[in-house]
Amino acid sequence: MIQKPKGTYDVFGDYGKKVLYLEMLFQSLMEKYNYEFIRTPIFEATDLFHRGVGETTDIVSKETYDFLDRGERKMTLRPEGTAGVVRSFIENKMYTNSSMPVKTWYYGPMFRYERPQAGRYREFYQMGVEAFGTSDPLMDAEVISIAVNFYKLLGLKDVKVRINSLGDSESRSNYRDALLAYFKQHLDKLCSDCKERYNKNPLRILDCKVDHDLDIMHNAPKISDYLSNEAIDHFEKVKDYLDNSGISYIVDDNLVRGLDYYTNTVFEVEADIPGFGANSVLSAGGRYDHLVENIGGPSTPGVGFALGMERLINVLEASSINLNIENGIDLYVIPMNDIVKSYAFDVTNKLRMSGFKVEMDYMNRNLKSNFKQADRLNSHFVAIIGEDEMANDYITIKNNITKEEDKIDTAYLVNYLDEKLLQEDCTCGDDCDCNHDHDCGCEHH
Ligand code: HAM
Repeated sequence: MIQKPKGTYDVFGDYGKKVLYLEMLFQSLMEKYNYEFIRTPIFEATDLFHRGVGETTDIVSKETYDFLDRGERKMTLRPEGTAGVVRSFIENKMYTNSSMPVKTWYYGPMFRYERPQAGRYREFYQMGVEAFGTSDPLMDAEVISIAVNFYKLLGLKDVKVRINSLGDSESRSNYRDALLAYFKQHLDKLCSDCKERYNKNPLRILDCKVDHDLDIMHNAPKISDYLSNEAIDHFEKVKDYLDNSGISYIVDDNLVRGLDYYTNTVFEVEADIPGFGANSVLSAGGRYDHLVENIGGPSTPGVGFALGMERLINVLEASSINLNIENGIDLYVIPMNDIVKSYAFDVTNKLRMSGFKVEMDYMNRNLKSNFKQADRLNSHFVAIIGEDEMANDYITIKNNITKEEDKIDTAYLVNYLDEKLLQEDCTCGDDCDCNHDHDCGCEHH
């Protein structure tokens, strides 16, 4: 049998419900923050990622899915969302938009040829944001707050925010010199990748997963000692904004991130759960004030982050957090025989169009197994339609919770269901007959 490619997975059943719920929750949070939805192609010209993400990053040098299309053009499945959004920002001249900042959010699959393991896939989904047009540290704080608030809304408590500043070009250049001088004495102890990084991008040595635990890594010069006054000021303001809105964080000097485009603030949100290892990084991002320019647009600052959907679901499961997913349907329709099927189908469709969640029997089950099926589907009501019902235009309807049975004229079915579902949804207390002239807190008020 042909199987799914390594590092990919199928979404169905309960997992599918979780995915849809999380998408919806993120979308509604984005509305509150006034971000606009953006969707860019899943493949882009290879060159975009070389210029955007960076030649020396693992993502571009080892992990991209590259292919030649039938017109011999070099294409790449996007390994991340930022480069594509920046390309779109430039190509659609969003920078001429007088209502800066331009705040965008996205959701979709990303592709990296990584070694698959728990929480690491070759096709994975990111939700993310990119905000353009301001270098104000307030926007860095806003972006960090989105990540933190999303996890908060979900009830995730064990998360930790790590932040750092990579400074501006001047800070980075001074720091680069310091790292070159330092690692020169230790080159023989570094892995082969790091030896290459030494020549191309020494900052990335600090991000090495192989050499991570070596003493020389811990004793390496710290970027904080090389930040310019402007970069220090920017970082202090970001921290101030976070402090004042009660968002706690840890400053981590060794946080450099695996993509080349960052300037000033970088951050990662990590699950603080034992045993989650490298996959505990739930989301990550930072500021990229030169990326728009590097990809060919006018100099425009930007900041953003992305979160991994799979790791989020893993961590929700590990924390035993149940999502508020509605299960069950309003009504299950049982046609008693072939003659009434078409009538039952019509009733079912009309109820669906009136806003009810309705399922019917397509399997010609007998009455007993149809009732079992209604239980399996967690149906509130069961409608039985026989020849007498069809001839006289009524439905026999059974409340699966109270076990009451009624015979209802089809013309009143919508009203009947509306009223019953409202009554039973009402949570305001025993005395209420739910005439709905007061705000009892149930979902209909
Ligand atoms: P990133 O750190 O490469 O950043 O990825 C962000 C998140 O995507 C990670 O924290 C992780 O949750 C998830 N992720 C990454 N790789 C995988 C994988 N192989 N399997 C499952 N999940 C994964 C970026 O992609 C940047 N574009 C973020 C950003 C946006 N920076 C500024 N704006």
